[in-house]
Amino acid sequence: MKIAVYPGSFDPITYGHIDIAKRALKVFDKLIILITVNPNKSGFFTAAERIDMVRQVMGDCGGRCTIESSTDLTVHKCKELGANHIVRGLRAVTDFEYEFQMTHANRTLAGDIDSVFFMTSNEYSYLSSNTVKEIAQFDGDLETFVPPYVAEKLTAKFRK
Ligand code: PNS
Repeated sequence: MKIAVYPGSFDPITYGHIDIAKRALKVFDKLIILITVNPNKSGFFTAAERIDMVRQVMGDCGGRCTIESSTDLTVHKCKELGANHIVRGLRAVTDFEYEFQMTHANRTLAGDIDSVFFMTSNEYSYLSSNTVKEIAQFDGDLETFVPPYVAEKLTAKFRK
């Protein structure tokens, strides 16, 4: 069985992330969406909130998706979960440098785990969680960027 881990902050999940997950599910039998939590950085949403949003919008993809969180190195988590591949999305050339560094660091740490990249749909090539947060902060229309459940959570957070 081909198992891949799709790690990310998902703070919050956007249609861009969902697009990558759907593409990965065409290639892998099982996709583990790994919400990585850096204990030294405070996210906008808590880990529990991010997990809840991913769960609500992804469901279990017909039994082929699971959602996990981690404060560990992604390659450690891959070994624990029996995954040999890391899935990441590429939007534009600007993503390449960061992904290149991370892939080589991960490969040095665990040579048996390979990274696989999917290119986002053109319509999401500019989209990021940070952009979405800024739009929400200034009451912009979130409809084309995030699912309604996530839009509600963003709006509620900024109204607090
Ligand atoms: O969504 P992001 O913030 O671009 O995700 C980056 C992420 C979460 C994939 C990366 O920070 C990660 O894997 N963090 C866990 C620590 C780790 O394994 N880092 C890579 C080796 S340097």
